Amino acid sequence: MKRVGILAGREKTFPDALIKAVNDRGKGEIVADFITLGGIRHDAPPRYDLVIDRISHEVPFYRATLKRMALEGTIIINNPFWWSADDKFFNYSLAPKLGVAVPKTVLIPQKDYMAGISSESLRNLEFPLNWQEIVDYVGLPAILKPFDGGGWKNVSRVNSIEELWSEYDSTGQLCMTLQQFIDFDQFVRCYCVGQQEVMIMAYDPRKPYLSGEQYIHDPNYLEPKLAERVKKDVRTLCTALGYDLNTVEFAIKDGIPYAIDFMNPAPDAELASVGEFYHNWITGAVTDLIFRRLTETRERPRYRWDAILNPETSQTSAVASSTEQQGRTIVPRPSASSAKGKSAAAGATVESGSSSDTKTRITDEPVTRATRRPKSEAGSKTTSRKSTPSARTKSPL
Ligand SMILES: Nc1ncnc2c1ncn2[C@@H]1O[C@H](COP(=O)(O)OP(=O)(O)O)[C@@H](O)[C@H]1O
Ligand SMILES: [Mg+2]
Repeated sequence: MKRVGILAGREKTFPDALIKAVNDRGKGEIVADFITLGGIRHDAPPRYDLVIDRISHEVPFYRATLKRMALEGTIIINNPFWWSADDKFFNYSLAPKLGVAVPKTVLIPQKDYMAGISSESLRNLEFPLNWQEIVDYVGLPAILKPFDGGGWKNVSRVNSIEELWSEYDSTGQLCMTLQQFIDFDQFVRCYCVGQQEVMIMAYDPRKPYLSGEQYIHDPNYLEPKLAERVKKDVRTLCTALGYDLNTVEFAIKDGIPYAIDFMNPAPDAELASVGEFYHNWITGAVTDLIFRRLTETRERPRYRWDAILNPETSQTSAVASSTEQQGRTIVPRPSASSAKGKSAAAGATVESGSSSDTKTRITDEPVTRATRRPKSEAGSKTTSRKSTPSARTKSPL
């Protein structure tokens, strides 16, 4: 008998549906249940053959437990090692090398730092920061968002450099990116399961969460050629990043799909949010994936970062199945040539859109406030990295 464990947070319908689907299909040979965890011994024997992780990004104890389980051969969806190392800015940097278009994005030094970090500790930071250069590159309006965020937390649209400073001043210890605003004609959110199965969901981020109007079931929402490109981009990104479960969001402008968010390895799948059609699809696709992963031949998993990223040049003797190796292989290429060869649109610019729905927090503070060196005696503002359905309450747009 093989055991499948589900690690979940507040969501309800998706974990329940998954457990039922696995148990129905498993007929006692493969069984699924919720994991119960107490103190974890470092030499604990394996309990599960496969774990679906929906929440460890918000609970460090879970993340540490999953890494330990992976060491014993448990298949973890998604790979907790890679997820621990990943961030959105890395992803934006990688995408154009793979021929996927992304908005222009700049990583910005934090506003505040943990206690004990003084100006002296930060001597490597440029001072003052060249805000004008950053804004000139990205353009206005722009989106200010965390480099590893989720659930629309701390995402804002800024229409002027003064608004940018005002928003930046409230970001505390978060590491932020400033990103070109894509005044999209269409918007899609795409599930990707097993780095292969793709479901394109027409999605309106301007509609409220749980309004029933965000996710629209319209198989013809994108014209066929665009849908093909979107599917290809989704597979490219999820394969490169090694995520077995993910959503990739595209803001589409003038026929170009710009990938704006593709680090969602615990994507929303709740019935009340995504609707019956998509909920059933994702439940079925993840159930298929579970059965596939449990039956395919696996060799020992690999845990070294260089092995995950560049297996060809790796010195490690750890190995994974060739499928897994391929799936987790990133071979960066120079962006100019790959953009030319794979997608003329990669890295292309889009005209800024209308500012009719502007954010109004314009500061009247002097410019120097936002350009000074960050304070050392920062508060310990914290935030969680990924989305939870209940956190996704309002549109930043
Ligand atoms: N570059 C962008 N252009 C236009 N809209 C954006 C851009 N970046 C983010 N948004 C809007 O903000 C929302 C949240 O941003 P996103 O990058 O998806 O962060 P999160 O990981 O918190 O979901 C998106 O769903 C989209 O509606
Ligand atoms: Mg998002």
